[in-house]
Amino acid sequence: MEEERLVTGGFKEQEDEQEKSLRPKTLNEYVGQQVVKDSLNIYIQAARERHDSLDHILLYGPPGLGKTTLAAIVAAEMGQNIRVTSGPAIERAGDLASLLTNLSTGDVLFIDEIHRLSHAVEEVLYPAMEDFALDIMIGKGPSARSIRLDLPKFTLIGATTRAGSLSAPLRDRFGILFRLQMYTTEELMQIIKHSSKVLSIQCEEDGIREIARRSRGTPRIVNRLLRRVRDYAQVRGKGIITMDMAREALNLLQVDDLGLDRVDREILTTMMVKFEGRPVGLDTLAATTGEDAVTIEDVVEPYLMQLGFIMRTPRGRICTRAAYEHMKLPMPKSYVQELAQGQISMMDEEVKNENQ
Ligand SMILES: Nc1ncnc2c1ncn2[C@@H]1O[C@H](COP(=O)(O)OP(=O)(O)O)[C@@H](O)[C@H]1O
Ligand SMILES: [Mg+2]
Repeated sequence: MEEERLVTGGFKEQEDEQEKSLRPKTLNEYVGQQVVKDSLNIYIQAARERHDSLDHILLYGPPGLGKTTLAAIVAAEMGQNIRVTSGPAIERAGDLASLLTNLSTGDVLFIDEIHRLSHAVEEVLYPAMEDFALDIMIGKGPSARSIRLDLPKFTLIGATTRAGSLSAPLRDRFGILFRLQMYTTEELMQIIKHSSKVLSIQCEEDGIREIARRSRGTPRIVNRLLRRVRDYAQVRGKGIITMDMAREALNLLQVDDLGLDRVDREILTTMMVKFEGRPVGLDTLAATTGEDAVTIEDVVEPYLMQLGFIMRTPRGRICTRAAYEHMKLPMPKSYVQELAQGQISMMDEEVKNENQ
């Protein structure tokens, strides 16, 4: 089901080439994330002046917000090479060891989905990050001993959709942590304008705004929807993306006014109707809707929370009044009463952690 989902921020294999051509190459071209860019500019300049490598950087945020892009930009701005790998790809400790010993001084090692590293692999990473050293066991049994190999000074950039799933020792070894924010409509419009130039697509301002508004604050989705609307405008219109073309195309794709698709709406409806507005746990929600719990947590929920449609409470997720209004469903009486009696409290650990 995930494959046919248009508004998922997740990466699709066949888009690889097209994405590359749309990727900004410098911090200047990288739209939005001002705080991150300002900080990086300072760290990069400082490191360059000292002829030193950058501290290790952890990037986190939902899929499609620009983590991989940013990692490549950091390496380029440092004038260094980047090696790209991912948590699931590094199966054994030996795989990581050979990656590390093949690095050159100053290289950037990018590990995507770093929360999926196995424990054994993580153990190798600690001394590598901290002391630029690799501990190797030689021999077996009582005669076994460990020797320490020096590694070149490198910069690790880790990306994760969920900083909370990272083990504390690993997280603590990153000197710099950035949480990427969802993009504003204006920022997404800027991205569309750049992409449509690269792809030679003619757009009107209203059409651009319509696509941006429905893209869940996510650059990858904005680029994906832009291509689908272009196809529609080419076949049904004059090839120009106008407001009407954008609307018709996105309606056909079942992406609503706020960028919610069938899956989002099904999850909201399940919470509102099946569970009558009562707090629902993630696993229950996953089992009831047949959606993957990870997808719900990484892709669906962040945007619904950003819209203020879902809140996490100690007893589970609940929908807000705004969500009922958007879905044009009545708020169940029980929920309204509980809210009035203060039984549904907004504070919980997860929310507090998220806001750190
Ligand atoms: N800040 C940005 N400015 C312009 N385009 C961006 C930006 N961030 C992401 N993109 C676009 O979105 C696509 C997906 O970004 P990516 O870095 O792969 O996301 P992530 O690694 O977080 O899933 C990129 O190919 C790029 O075209
Ligand atoms: Mg990525």
